[in-house]
Amino acid sequence: MKILLDNRVVVITGAGGGIGKATAIKLAEAGANLALLGGHNISKINQTAELARSLGARVFSLPGDLTDDNFLASCIDKILDHFGQIDVLINNAGIAHNAPFEKTDVEVLDKIYRINVRTPFVLSQKVLPYLRLSDHAAIVNISSSLGHKGYAGQSAYAASKHALRGMSKAIANELYTEGIRVHTVCPGGVYTDMLSVARPDLSSEGMIMPDDVAETILFLLQYRTNAVIDEINIRREGKPPYEI
Ligand SMILES: NC(=O)c1ccc[n+]([C@@H]2O[C@H](COP(=O)([O-])OP(=O)(O)OC[C@H]3O[C@@H](n4cnc5c(N)ncnc54)[C@H](OP(=O)(O)O)[C@@H]3O)[C@@H](O)[C@H]2O)c1
Repeated sequence: MKILLDNRVVVITGAGGGIGKATAIKLAEAGANLALLGGHNISKINQTAELARSLGARVFSLPGDLTDDNFLASCIDKILDHFGQIDVLINNAGIAHNAPFEKTDVEVLDKIYRINVRTPFVLSQKVLPYLRLSDHAAIVNISSSLGHKGYAGQSAYAASKHALRGMSKAIANELYTEGIRVHTVCPGGVYTDMLSVARPDLSSEGMIMPDDVAETILFLLQYRTNAVIDEINIRREGKPPYEI
């Protein structure tokens, strides 16, 4: 059964650009209301919010640092005050790093883990009581093909995306009896700002586009039958897989 997203409240982290922005627009088109959570570039978040509003969505923006526990503690209450419900959490915000293992300081590993793993863990815990009240509850975790693989120069990022994928699978197994879907999306190289940081060796030609990932997320949220999709891997067509 394909469900409409009308009046669902979807929390998206890191929606100022790239995959998060494309997802916000896609879900607004499908009728969802949006809480755009986190991000440092306020004008970019405002741009996403305005685009989504022009499509008819109600949008509440909460820019800030998602690795700051005080910010995290306050934001769910603010979203509930604004919308009165949370149906979906999309853990999208993340950072990458490209350096040989030997030259990757442990501080870099800690920083990447904090946003790529700890923040999705904490946010998922915080929204869970409210997801339990929704008939169409879901958490979507944006891992990566680096959640399966390891490329040279990607030790810290690959560790974080493997961790997120593992965490996502465990939470999915805990919550499926309650009707709460937990999906992992693992894209290969997507044409966003992050790509040049994570894989400076790749050209942008023929890359997966943010909208392709957004379309997949929309499908996951709309496709609710007895069959449950735990994980989707996305790679580019045709050429040898360029993945991050
Ligand atoms: N691009 C790819 O090839 C690719 C492939 C597979 C998976 N992914 C994953 O997809 C997700 C989105 O990436 P993207 O490619 O769309 O990259 P992007 O354009 O750089 O977007 C990442 C977003 O995360 C936000 N963010 C990062 N750290 C944050 C923090 N501490 N607090 C709040 N917000 C924070 C950024 O906001 P600010 O810049 O304003 O802080 C930005 O809006 C990431 O989890 C990434 O690992 C990307």
